[in-house]
Amino acid sequence: MSNTEIETAKKAEPKAVDNRFKYLDRALAKHQFRGDALIEVLHTAQELFGFLSQDLLTYISKSLKLPPSKVYGVATFYHFFSLKPKGEHTVTVCMGTACYVKGAGELLAAAEHQCKCKAGETTADGKVSIQSARCVGSCGIAPVVVYDNEVAPVVTPEGITSRLQTWLEAAS
Ligand code: FES
Repeated sequence: MSNTEIETAKKAEPKAVDNRFKYLDRALAKHQFRGDALIEVLHTAQELFGFLSQDLLTYISKSLKLPPSKVYGVATFYHFFSLKPKGEHTVTVCMGTACYVKGAGELLAAAEHQCKCKAGETTADGKVSIQSARCVGSCGIAPVVVYDNEVAPVVTPEGITSRLQTWLEAAS
């Protein structure tokens, strides 16, 4: 994701608003933009975005006023951080409280059933990675699913199934 795309995502319209940067900013503020909170911030960023893109690492480095080499070094040192998306597509089911009470568990089950793999895994053909997040910062439109970088509001099991079917059936 380029810096321009990041700025565009931040300014997106409320209906399908991508609040993940707002949520990341909140996490940065919670840690008072302290450099020693780097690992916690990287965890939050990965949970929100699925992986740590170069632009995301730059954004974090600027926010925490740390050299990019330091941020990159930490992100590559720990095996639980991922710098690339695993599958061709990533579906992120928000399992935060607001989404959970509105049926996120059924959405995740539908995704796992459709993809024949569990959250944290990628389909055998490498097309789709499934992940869950604690809250992507869009509780008002729960239950929320993020398809790659598109935040989808009020998702139903049928909706997630049909989107995943399209991805799985698409030619590589
Ligand atoms: S709990 Fe899902 S967006 Fe907040």
